[in-house]
Amino acid sequence: MEIATTRPGSGTIAPRARLRSDAPQQSLDGRWRFRVSPSLRSAPADWRDADTASWSTIDVPGHWNLQGHGSPAYSNVQMPFPVDPPFPPDANPIGDYRLDFTADTGVLAHGRRLLRFDGIESAAEIWLNDTLVGTTRGSRLTHEFDVSDMLVAGVNRLAVRVAQFSDATYLENQDMWWLPGIFRSVTLLARPDGGVHDLFVRADWDDQAAEGILDVAAEVDGGGAARLVIEELGVDVPLDGSIRLGGVEPWNAERPRLYDVEVRTETETVSLKVGFRRVEVRDARLLVNGEPIMLRGVNRHEHRPRHGRVFDATVARDELLLMKRHHINAVRTSHYPPHPDVLDLFDELGFWVIDECDLETHGFEHVGWRGNPSADPAWRDAFLDRIQRTVHRDKNHTSVIMWSLGNESHVGPNLEAMARWTRSADPSRLIHYEGDGESRYVDVYSRMYAPHDEVREIGEETLRPAPFDATPAQAHRLTLPFLQCEFAHAMGTGPGGLQEYWDLFEAYPRHAGGFVWEWIEHGIAVDGPDGSSRILYGGDFGEAVHDGNFVIDGLVDADRNPRPGLLHYAAVIAPVVIDVDGARTTVRIANRYDFLDLGHVELRWSRVVDGQGTASGTLAVPPCGPREVATLELPDEARTPASAEVADVLTIEAFTTVATPWADAGHVLASGQQVCDGRPVMPPGIVAEVTEDRVGAAHFDRVTGGLVRLGDLEITGPTVGVWRAPTDNDRDLGNDELDLPPYAERWRAAGIDRMVTRLVDLRPGPDGVVVRTRTGTPILDSAIDATLRWSAVGDGAVRLDVELEPNATWTTEWARLGLDLVLEGEPLGADVAGYGPMHSYPDLRSGARFGWWHLGPHDLTVDNVKPQESGSRTGVRDARIVTEGGALHVSTLDHPFALTVSQHSRQSLAAAAHNWELTPEGRTFVSIDLAQSGVGTATCGPGVLPRHRLHAQPAAISLILRHEPTLG
Ligand code: GAL
Repeated sequence: MEIATTRPGSGTIAPRARLRSDAPQQSLDGRWRFRVSPSLRSAPADWRDADTASWSTIDVPGHWNLQGHGSPAYSNVQMPFPVDPPFPPDANPIGDYRLDFTADTGVLAHGRRLLRFDGIESAAEIWLNDTLVGTTRGSRLTHEFDVSDMLVAGVNRLAVRVAQFSDATYLENQDMWWLPGIFRSVTLLARPDGGVHDLFVRADWDDQAAEGILDVAAEVDGGGAARLVIEELGVDVPLDGSIRLGGVEPWNAERPRLYDVEVRTETETVSLKVGFRRVEVRDARLLVNGEPIMLRGVNRHEHRPRHGRVFDATVARDELLLMKRHHINAVRTSHYPPHPDVLDLFDELGFWVIDECDLETHGFEHVGWRGNPSADPAWRDAFLDRIQRTVHRDKNHTSVIMWSLGNESHVGPNLEAMARWTRSADPSRLIHYEGDGESRYVDVYSRMYAPHDEVREIGEETLRPAPFDATPAQAHRLTLPFLQCEFAHAMGTGPGGLQEYWDLFEAYPRHAGGFVWEWIEHGIAVDGPDGSSRILYGGDFGEAVHDGNFVIDGLVDADRNPRPGLLHYAAVIAPVVIDVDGARTTVRIANRYDFLDLGHVELRWSRVVDGQGTASGTLAVPPCGPREVATLELPDEARTPASAEVADVLTIEAFTTVATPWADAGHVLASGQQVCDGRPVMPPGIVAEVTEDRVGAAHFDRVTGGLVRLGDLEITGPTVGVWRAPTDNDRDLGNDELDLPPYAERWRAAGIDRMVTRLVDLRPGPDGVVVRTRTGTPILDSAIDATLRWSAVGDGAVRLDVELEPNATWTTEWARLGLDLVLEGEPLGADVAGYGPMHSYPDLRSGARFGWWHLGPHDLTVDNVKPQESGSRTGVRDARIVTEGGALHVSTLDHPFALTVSQHSRQSLAAAAHNWELTPEGRTFVSIDLAQSGVGTATCGPGVLPRHRLHAQPAAISLILRHEPTLG
């Protein structure tokens, strides 16, 4: 077997469209015989006809290292073996697959038969009945072979030898697990004489004439004639050139109107679903059907925690419906063409798609791009073969608006050749490649993780005259729309700064939106010793080279449960924006659809005062076209001020009045609020028993000055804290902070993870006691002085007036400025009047609404695969925290606070590498933060934006604390 060439695979027929046909076909998926050898040299030579009795069996499609043969391995940019192209290492698992099958009579009835493989990682040699069929390169690409002369009646023997690594690995160094095997379907196809071999349907839309233009090029075997039939439109004509169709509707991602088209010959009918649309660039804007569009996108990898990249139709459909429910309208198929059926779903449900070729040579970056295949003529055919397989397979899909040449393969003539070929093969779509640093051969200016300031600057560029000394490349770029093919790295707690990005995308006509990196966390699930499922990441399988948890960076977890980042993103990109004016007289509705009016939207308003609904109603939306704004009067009941202790909240929700495939009618698209802070009742101080260690219900430790008990509730603290358990983003260097180490390191160096408190004094005050403490960093002299005035206020409650004052020596920014309390018993939940229900931080809060939220024990924090800070609720005015040991009620008398209630201490979170390493601590860790830093997206992209950083500063708050009995 040849596994060190620079050539494409061999023996395949020319790539062609994926067609749904009435010709017979036979799936060869199922249980195959299988054996793996550790290297090509040691792999037995008799694999094609050996007795397979001693072999095991395996699922096809499937990855062998997820089926008990070896282990998965994860690395990102780093190659897992020496960069020595085109050679793979000697230690290179070789999988031998065998299937004996009887061909269906339907398939045998036709003289021409093809054998199709939709995905084999990474290189295969295929034999049928001991005749070499051919070889494959391009793991996520379809390869078809003509086996007409090899297929026999009776039993056929198919033998496939697959190398985990090969020359192809140098072209497939995407940031994902190495998962070898036949992981997509294997099919036998009968090809009728005079059948439709290939088709290219171009369904253009003429916006001026409001007509569709259908151009269908067919390649009929034997050159015979074909008919074009569109029953719905009464079309039944000989297939011959293009036809104009009046009375049709265009396709767009918001109204994905498809028509059933058939192409018939005497012997075969193929059917497609076709939408009419035109993609173009005009005045540096991305237009579809003459209208500018905004890509509200995600990068989608194919991943399932126990099956890797093996497709499951139900999972894929549900996943796309989940995207639609969260307003995602665009997908970049990072970094390879997805399973072919996913394209049907994109067309049907409505997504703008960047279909990306299976190409990434990123490993060469570590050697300064020396020997990069993109620039080496020896690899040229392999590059061209890959893009040709991509374009041909998917060319009839309406949703595909751009072809992407690949990802992170630097530059070189082979990429340019791909672009040239693509432009000539399909001028109806745009060409994308982020790595074309000068945008010389692409149609869109694409970047990844450009910081906000640069996004602003790129937007400004096209608003002013082009510089007189612009090079031709610069001048060309100025004609291009801008998008971020990756931005907002959804790793761990984050991504911060989404709203700030989106405001910029909306502000500049050149900007066409972007794609969050990434949709899904690629955790691999295994059974732990107790039988429960554990999610693993890079390094957990003993890999010598790996990139740890960098593969756990999604808006949904590996099982596709939304992370809070998805909920915030959904709010940022919502198709409707609702603003209520401060006086509550009017509400302004902005329609951010590109094509739809708001005819399918109604508004519901509701008024909640101190947690009690007082009034509600619906409002019809006046006519409001795409990108228009409407203003509505609010009814009196919504306006009239009420006296509230906590808050008086007017919420306006936009909901749908019609069902869609992804949501029933009543689906909430967006909400807006007007929150009037209540006036807390200042309870008068009462005469209570006051000693040095007691103020009413509050009992103090004379040595520390901290609480030991509040009523019957065992409680310690408060201590002053400015640290958080570093998030993934805190551990990384943002691309705008090159002169400083990551926050986690700066915090460690400053010692804020180990601050030490000294009691300065504890003495009786006017109505209680006054405790003064100094909390300082070890090794250094930075400190925060705290004055805590405790007084009794009746009903067993105590009032705490806190003043915090940092000294002048602080140079490190803080994660937060808060009071930390530890309660006895595991947390059971919390009732929180504040912003929720999901967690929020200063730069990650668009989806949070003020409400009276009940949080169960699992809602308090986020079960991140790698533990880290999470779970803050901002703008809290009142909260009841319930533990096994009782309940603590905290409310503010002035400023709202951010509340974090965790089952684990920050030290435990910071020390654990996996969520399943954490063990119950029997306590509840509560933080009441007076100020917080944002979270940023430094794992890739900018860190915390300057406006969301927290510098040393004084703060004060007045709180009421009480122990509340719990039921039962
Ligand atoms: C990008 C790359 C992605 C992924 C991401 C980080 O550079 O294109 O594949 O690695 O960074 O998660």
